[in-house]
Amino acid sequence: MSMNIAIDGPAGAGKSTIAKRLAKELGFIYVDTGAMYRAIAYYLLKNEISATEEEIKAACPDIDVKIAYENGEQQVLLNGENVNGVIRTQEVSAMASVTSSYPVVREKLLELQRSLAANADVIMDGRDIGTCVLPGAQVKIFLTASSATRAKRRYDELVEKGETCDLAEIEREIVARDERDMNRETAPLMQADDAVFVDSSYMDIEKVVETLLDIYREKTGK
Ligand code: DC
Repeated sequence: MSMNIAIDGPAGAGKSTIAKRLAKELGFIYVDTGAMYRAIAYYLLKNEISATEEEIKAACPDIDVKIAYENGEQQVLLNGENVNGVIRTQEVSAMASVTSSYPVVREKLLELQRSLAANADVIMDGRDIGTCVLPGAQVKIFLTASSATRAKRRYDELVEKGETCDLAEIEREIVARDERDMNRETAPLMQADDAVFVDSSYMDIEKVVETLLDIYREKTGK
């Protein structure tokens, strides 16, 4: 049976950075489910499809999302095209937050996510991994940080990429995204009963990795 680690938490909590590090450390595959939602959002934006449930339902059969790995890095293929380089914009983030609330979008990705976890040892991050996608995961973490810390991390990332941005605006967007992710009817962002809560506001990356490795060892006896 494959080993599954589920990491859920709000935007900017450091899930992907930490999950990538853990995957390397443990020899697991890292599965970024947010990228799948982003790919669908990108398709809708590109094809000027409005974010209403009806329009999205009609478009769904034309959207094919697949995952491949290149040098251990997840690549998202949208109708055969690698979209990794175009799904990290603020526009796509905002669209993904809205469209991921629709059951039709979530159902479309559920099977892909579960099949990846059934066939390999994975660390999967998202919003509903511990609660909905992999309720049987051996290790579940709910990773969070204050909205101010998360905004500052996102700001630093964008500045490093050479983008101009406003810290207060980023924090407002993060808070709005949290609201949407936590209050939607289908698969809201929520800590699973058996998940371990980790607040990384005052931890550096090394400390978070160490903390999660300790939790993994404690839960699995490995
Ligand atoms: O983690 P991220 O920022 O790449 O996620 C993009 C959006 O997708 C985010 O607003 C929430 C949504 N998402 C989700 O609803 N469920 C997941 N398992 C992962 C992401």
